[in-house]
Amino acid sequence: MGKRGEWQVNSLAAGRELLRGEVVDCLPDGRGVVRSAGKTVFVEAAITGELVDFRVRRRRRRYDEAELVAVASPSPDRVQPRCSVYGRCGGCSLQHLSPAAQLALKQRNLLDNLERIGRLQPEQVLPALRGPAWGYRRKARLAARLVAAKGRVLVGFRERHQPFVTDCLRCETLHPRVGERLGELSALLGSLSIADRIPQLEVAVGDQVAVLALRTLAPPADADIEQLRDWQAASGLRIYLQPGGPQTLAPLPGEPRAQLSYRLAEHAVEIAFEPGDFIQVNAALNERLVSQAIELLAAGPRDTVVDLYCGLGNFSLPLARAAGEVVGVELAPEMCRRAAANALRSGITNARFVTGDLRAADALQGLEALRPTRVLLDPPRSGAAEVLGLLGRWRAERIVYVSCHPGTLARDAGRLCSEYGYRLAAAGVLDMFPQTSHVESIALLCAE
Ligand SMILES: C[S@@+](CC[C@H](N)C(=O)[O-])C[C@H]1O[C@@H](n2cnc3c(N)ncnc32)[C@H](O)[C@@H]1O
Repeated sequence: MGKRGEWQVNSLAAGRELLRGEVVDCLPDGRGVVRSAGKTVFVEAAITGELVDFRVRRRRRRYDEAELVAVASPSPDRVQPRCSVYGRCGGCSLQHLSPAAQLALKQRNLLDNLERIGRLQPEQVLPALRGPAWGYRRKARLAARLVAAKGRVLVGFRERHQPFVTDCLRCETLHPRVGERLGELSALLGSLSIADRIPQLEVAVGDQVAVLALRTLAPPADADIEQLRDWQAASGLRIYLQPGGPQTLAPLPGEPRAQLSYRLAEHAVEIAFEPGDFIQVNAALNERLVSQAIELLAAGPRDTVVDLYCGLGNFSLPLARAAGEVVGVELAPEMCRRAAANALRSGITNARFVTGDLRAADALQGLEALRPTRVLLDPPRSGAAEVLGLLGRWRAERIVYVSCHPGTLARDAGRLCSEYGYRLAAAGVLDMFPQTSHVESIALLCAE
């Protein structure tokens, strides 16, 4: 907070004309909308209702992009960002908003998308599911780069408008086992003979074990391997190397594979995974999401449930505790195999897993005969346009759609309602990615 209650922000567009305006709206990524000299200006980290000073960073034909310089009248929703590199690092864009205001923004984003794209209003807006706002991120891809001018390897997310790696020593959203060690990792990578040949690291944190997978563009020397081994022993984190494609990902020479897994305690399920597998980013929120999905789907012993885009069985296995039968469908054969192994490990015998590309007509045809009474789907960001016809023919009583992209959810839900006889009974957001603009949501569609 600056003098007279103003918020001061370090300006990167120094020297440009300083402008002042009122923020009339807020975009999902945290930018405020200001009208200035007849043009729309998107001002970073500005909140509706605030009077802000800004400098234009980039002019475009229909709008300008601006940097926030100071806030003359701060919104009650404004909070002090926790992270010292907030504004520069591209990892977060909502740290200046209180957690409640972040969720309200995400909920508005979902409802706007449903209305604008799907022409839908949910009969019930579900209360937002919440979890820890910091240190939640158990899966991430970090960039690494040896920067001669700084004399060290930078490890972190990329900068917001630049290809550079953010210079930081810790990350507040990453799981603390990794987030508190970025400085240590920087020193470790800097000590290797291939310091300039490691462009990225994959982070995978299980309940007991965490893995850092280093993408290597040149073979490490023996001394490097020993160095990594020593750090591994001291830190308790496992190091993997990935010299080529995803199939080359492996522990240090001579070491066993890490036993990564997470538990869904309420459902007595354990999900084992490999460092490259998709898992939901936020462990606490995932547990709540799974429970909510099960509640909304309301499957009983007489129900056959199909879980499309099932991954490792994150929803299928808990669902199998209540349903008669569950069939999971997943593109990646190795994830399908691991889902089946996860069923065995949890003593579940009424779930099976089918490998199939849900964009492909022959895979969809193969699923036609299933005729489930309940369907759960959790597609990638591109949505599930290709499976809507199949869903229409199945006509399950309930469909629960979990989505990481409100636009494609709205598009698909709109078609399920307008073309395939469903109604949008409920929809809501969940705080899977606090501090960032990512919106995770869930919708219940019921057959009319
Ligand atoms: C958002 S993840 C959800 C995974 C799982 N439901 C979970 O909660 O962990 C989407 C999953 O869809 C799979 N997938 C992506 N494209 C696919 C396709 N065309 N056909 C089938 N599965 C696909 C991915 O491999 C990934 O496991």
